[in-house]
Amino acid sequence: MVPVNYYAEHLAEINKTNTVTATENIYNVKGALIVAEGRIITAELMQKITLHKLADSLESCVMLEYPLDHKKIVGDLKDRVQELAIDQFFEKLDVMEEAIQHFSYLTQHPLMMQKLTVLAERLPNIYNRSLISSVFSIALCNELNLNAEQRRIVFVGCVISDSGLLNINPDVVNKPGAYNEDEWRLFQGHVLIARQFVKLQPDINKMVGIAIVEHHERTDGCGYPRGLKPENLSIEGQIIGMTDTIGALFRKHVMRKKCSTAVLEPLLQINTSAHSSEVLNAALKVIRKQEESYSYSYSEEELEKLIDDLTERQQRLTSCFNKLKELYIQHADELIEFENTRPILMFRQLEKTMDTSGLLSEHQAGWLKEGSKNNQSDYHNAIGEYALLLEELEYYFNFINRNVEPYLSEIQDCFKDPAFIFSHHAELDAMLA
Ligand SMILES: [Fe+2]
Repeated sequence: MVPVNYYAEHLAEINKTNTVTATENIYNVKGALIVAEGRIITAELMQKITLHKLADSLESCVMLEYPLDHKKIVGDLKDRVQELAIDQFFEKLDVMEEAIQHFSYLTQHPLMMQKLTVLAERLPNIYNRSLISSVFSIALCNELNLNAEQRRIVFVGCVISDSGLLNINPDVVNKPGAYNEDEWRLFQGHVLIARQFVKLQPDINKMVGIAIVEHHERTDGCGYPRGLKPENLSIEGQIIGMTDTIGALFRKHVMRKKCSTAVLEPLLQINTSAHSSEVLNAALKVIRKQEESYSYSYSEEELEKLIDDLTERQQRLTSCFNKLKELYIQHADELIEFENTRPILMFRQLEKTMDTSGLLSEHQAGWLKEGSKNNQSDYHNAIGEYALLLEELEYYFNFINRNVEPYLSEIQDCFKDPAFIFSHHAELDAMLA
């Protein structure tokens, strides 16, 4: 069966307002002509295209009547910066001027502009976040003293790092809840798809493709697609990865909960091994330039509810951690040959985080219990921050659990009782749900 060409489906939608024309004959892999040069890619033709495995990538055979231009992209960027109220921050970081120059470079590459136009139209959230991330990445390049070529690689990589999502089923890309194993695997493919896209453009530095593939790798070996070690990661890929992490934390905490950007600092410090210390320190330095502080204030009733909620969450996560420990420590002998697989590396990482952060320590539990009697602003701030960190920790537990799934059948054979690992995992699932 021919895999669905989701990019063709996006183009057919685009064609309703922005004519998409075949710039050359489109052939299938067997050499049969599917669409003749000059034809408009209507919904009907798109359906025909999706029945075939094409000889060349669709991107290189079509053009849009109205691709985005420099003015429109810069306009979109400025609107977004205003909307997020980060204009002063970006001004302080002095990044806009260089970004405008990089966008000017991108407009000289028609395939890039085609991709960005489709992204802006079909996945506007991804487009908007790519614009902001790419500009923010300049500040990291400054801190890390990257040269002009490296800065361009980082910037272009940031802009199109998630464009591969256009080739993945939109039902998966836009799914609001957690992914199942198959969906998660599909989603992870976006990095390789984007590298293929970069390869279509010989005048784009091939490091852009490499850096994109690395943007979900992490220095603790827990990233994807290959779980690479730090010595095998380029600085460009690491910067795009850090920009991605900061973007995700920004959306989750600063945008949705209207927190100050200052909260990014403790959040980034929960897991200090995901990024190299060099890149992490650069990111912290950039965030501190915002010079904002944050404060929390709760009514007595709110505080009581929050403490109850945090106590429950703390106990639940402690049980989860103990459950994981039971699996990894008590069965260490059985798991020894899997020591370098992602779930085990992640568990080691989690252990370290538990140790250094003390987030689930008995001291924290006692402090929470005492809290209801405390009405000082320092305490409100501390508990607000603790709520934030615990939420992030819960997310991390979920992330680990999700990453264990693909390994279950592989690992089960090494247990004396193979059913154990599945029931163990199911229990964890229920605890985290
Ligand atoms: Fe990504």
